[in-house]
Amino acid sequence: MDALLAAIGSSDIASFVRGSRWIYPLVNAAHILGIALLIGTIVVLDVRIFGYRRSQPLSETAQFLMPFTIAGLVLAICAGSVLFSVKPHDYAANPVFRLKIALIVAALVNATILRRRALHRQAPDTALRIGAGLSLILWIGVLVSGRMIAFVG
Ligand code: HEM
Repeated sequence: MDALLAAIGSSDIASFVRGSRWIYPLVNAAHILGIALLIGTIVVLDVRIFGYRRSQPLSETAQFLMPFTIAGLVLAICAGSVLFSVKPHDYAANPVFRLKIALIVAALVNATILRRRALHRQAPDTALRIGAGLSLILWIGVLVSGRMIAFVG
């Protein structure tokens, strides 16, 4: 693990970002844009599952939002990985960073199950509502732990 972190930290992209005053904040801004797209579209679908705008078929809402959710996820992961590469040992040792990654994995598993079911339904059932509730709790946990990284460790 130590060798992998050392390789990430000495990579060309990590050295480039560390060497510039402006690139890190720009990448951080890209990370936040990815987070906004990802969690913004997830919250919209969760609120629809809870019953907002019942006239709108659930499958249509899920289908419309999906490309934005995936674009946000890809951007958040790519920009986050670049941020991570600047101080890999520090971030890997940070308990809040580890918590965030664990919550992201749990939230993505839940999101995948939720989306698969929502794409084939016109209206939500109890299982979907429970999944939407779990989704909100997990993604809020990711947001809070992500913000706390800079304050812990
Ligand atoms: C996929 C969903 C993700 C979400 C929702 C997310 C969320 C967040 C949030 C809310 C912040 C605080 C942003 C700020 O206030 O500046 C943050 C910072 C950060 N994230 Fe993520 N993140 C995600 C993925 C990742 C991944 C995959 C990595 C790395 C492998 C990563 C690495 C980081 C790093 C290094 C910071 C900066 C911490 C600091 O020094 O302030 N993130 N993330």
